[in-house]
Amino acid sequence: MIVLGIETSCDDTGAAIVDSGKLRSNVVYDQQIHQTYGGVVPEIAARMHEQKIIPVVTGALQQAGCALGDLDGIAVTYGPGLAGALVVGLNFAKGLAQSLQAPFIGINHMEGHLWANFLERPLTPDQFPFICLLVSGGHTHLWLVAGPGEYTLLGRTLDDAAGEAFDKGARLLGLGYPGGPAIQHAAVDGDALKFAFPRPKAESEGLDYSFSGLKTALFYQIKRMDANFKDDLADLAASYQQAIIDSLMSRLVKAVEVTGIDRVCIAGGVSANNLLRQSLDNWSHEAAVSISYPAIEYCTDNAAMIALAGYVRLAAGQSAALGLDIYPSLRMDENAAI
Ligand code: KG4
Ligand code: ZN
Repeated sequence: MIVLGIETSCDDTGAAIVDSGKLRSNVVYDQQIHQTYGGVVPEIAARMHEQKIIPVVTGALQQAGCALGDLDGIAVTYGPGLAGALVVGLNFAKGLAQSLQAPFIGINHMEGHLWANFLERPLTPDQFPFICLLVSGGHTHLWLVAGPGEYTLLGRTLDDAAGEAFDKGARLLGLGYPGGPAIQHAAVDGDALKFAFPRPKAESEGLDYSFSGLKTALFYQIKRMDANFKDDLADLAASYQQAIIDSLMSRLVKAVEVTGIDRVCIAGGVSANNLLRQSLDNWSHEAAVSISYPAIEYCTDNAAMIALAGYVRLAAGQSAALGLDIYPSLRMDENAAI
């Protein structure tokens, strides 16, 4: 079964082909123009998707050696994301499905991130249940995954997402956008113990996250240091990054203790972070927890994960009606795919 996946939920225009669960091509056009503005400009994102969607889809078909007539289904992100950006991919996919008389399926972007963990290893029933930490620019959620479409929320951020904490911190530090890679880069030779930024108390209840206090602490630290903060940029970046990763790890460790489930996946843009991956590796050796994360190119937004999620759904006999609309605030446990 050959599935075309299309992703246009934010500022990456993506198309990919999955053939019987195996990735055959993956093309992403990264709209770097947003770096000029220090964040994603929704109107520009939508226009760029319109310009790039045909070349990106054509590129994915060519790389996979497929013709349109070979497609057995078309999968597309219908939420969550920016409304104007989602509309471009969804309408393109519907038009293509209609003209090819091929099945069409709407995919939840966050569920796509989750399945990115299975682009390079088989998705077999013995992988379940597992705990997934989904960490992106707009989400920080801990899910118990019992099977495809079976998600129970264990914890979530009460304010900023982890990626947002990286992006806002980078802006305060005068680093570029996106903030995660910029802070990771600036932190390379920094001392992570130099500045004591807040972390959640280990004994505090629940599995929720909060990053707004951390961002405020960085704001006041920079204010106290005035223009001199640039002299300590590496130490500030390293200490701030360490505080975000320590927070992510503390709740994840607690989730494993509370549930007794010792298989963990991470997904979403922040799962590309080196310090998070190192911390997970160390934990997995100490605590005999099995850890999985996607290859770096599948952590941030891409269509490979959407094509795989579409394949899983189509193989289970599911497809959507052409009346499906975008759903910008779609949750993981609410119509994970249609
Ligand atoms: O999943 P994603 O590409 O888009 C959303 O669905 O939001 O995630 C983007 C987020 C941004 O906040 C970005 O700063 C963060 O992922 N990010 C990282 C890294 N690479 C991307 N954060 C920390 N370290 C990284 N290496
Ligand atoms: Zn994403």
